[in-house]
Amino acid sequence: MDQPSSLSRIDWVARNCRLLATTAAEFSRTRPFAGLTIGTGIHLEPKTVALLMTLRAGGAGLVCTGNLNSTQPETVDYLRAQGITVVAMQTTDAAEHGASLDAILAKKPDLLLDNGGDLFARIAERPYANILGGTEETTSGRTRLLPMRDKLAMPILVINDSPIKQFAENKHAVGQSLFESYLRFTNRSTNGKRVTVFGYGACGKGTAACFRNAFSTVSAVDIDPVTTLEAHLDGFVTPLRAEAIRSADILITVTGCPAVVTAADLPLIKDGAILMNGGHFPHEIDVEAFRNSPDVAGVDRYEAEHIETIRMRDGRTFHILGAGHMTNLAGPRPLGNTVESMDLGFALQARCLERVAKGGLGKDACIVPVPADIDAMVASAYLELAR
Ligand SMILES: NC(=O)c1ccc[n+]([C@@H]2O[C@H](COP(=O)([O-])OP(=O)(O)OC[C@H]3O[C@@H](n4cnc5c(N)ncnc54)[C@H](O)[C@@H]3O)[C@@H](O)[C@H]2O)c1
Repeated sequence: MDQPSSLSRIDWVARNCRLLATTAAEFSRTRPFAGLTIGTGIHLEPKTVALLMTLRAGGAGLVCTGNLNSTQPETVDYLRAQGITVVAMQTTDAAEHGASLDAILAKKPDLLLDNGGDLFARIAERPYANILGGTEETTSGRTRLLPMRDKLAMPILVINDSPIKQFAENKHAVGQSLFESYLRFTNRSTNGKRVTVFGYGACGKGTAACFRNAFSTVSAVDIDPVTTLEAHLDGFVTPLRAEAIRSADILITVTGCPAVVTAADLPLIKDGAILMNGGHFPHEIDVEAFRNSPDVAGVDRYEAEHIETIRMRDGRTFHILGAGHMTNLAGPRPLGNTVESMDLGFALQARCLERVAKGGLGKDACIVPVPADIDAMVASAYLELAR
């Protein structure tokens, strides 16, 4: 028998990203990125390693940074040990993060893999000659970049707008992951709890379903009446906004929009409530305004748990997980979405970057969904491996 080997979570993830492994094997023959550099601004966590190693197998030079609050030091160390340039730190400071983004763009990568629009928003202001285009991962990034479409005028394929990303990650994985995060942070039960989910889009649907399956009574709040009707017909409670906040033992935002729950809502929040965010940016719950409200007597912090408790002057207390950052990539031992969902999403990423690198996509392909033939190719490959 061989000597037992000591493996890490990065190894575990890599060995379970089967789609990326087959893509990497193909790329090492076809070398679609030979001579090109890819700049990345996406969560530096183990699943991203599997994607980055796939791109490198295709011949890419890589310069990498992360997103706010989600950079995992073990991932950074691992990538550097592989000789990949990483300019990133675990920070919630927008200026520090901005300096890392600038450092990536100073290397003038030919392609960009963006998550939340941080890199392309800078390119819109300061384009350089060799930039070919790239990909944007999220809903929030698409919303942010759309008004800059004329300035960007280069192929940017939006992974979020693939039906595969919508159902595999946003609907199925984010719900499971936010549910796992609630348990991981709090070690509290869900049974009999009243849960309010703000946003009944793809992520909200999965989140509402996961908490319902865990014996909670779930309410959904959405600014779109058609979507609210869908939630109603799916069997969720759809109270008016104020009542939904007042009744919530657990309140989750997952809208992609700012100021969903603000200091104006402080009088409504239930004693003992737990608030958490699943949306990309930490602006859905206005935690800073809570901290500074004259109605707040004090803030207690469970530092190691990444939980803070807001003490109101009227005697109520409530708790915020991960300071309002995306909970599934915050706090102790953040796992993020499931390996399988990210394997699928990142296979789309790899194929879309390959398509942009090949040329042939014009500036009309600026902020457009994943081409349907790529969706079909990735779906067939995943099914083949699952059979
Ligand atoms: N946590 C993760 O791992 C993860 C993964 C994927 C996406 N995301 C993020 O989750 C967020 C939601 O993504 P999605 O794909 O579900 O988006 P979506 O556009 O499908 O759904 C968002 C929903 O929120 C509703 N909404 C907007 N503002 C609202 C408000 N103030 N109150 C109530 N409802 C409101 C919209 O009407 C819409 O129905 C985005 O920020 C996205 O980037 C997070």
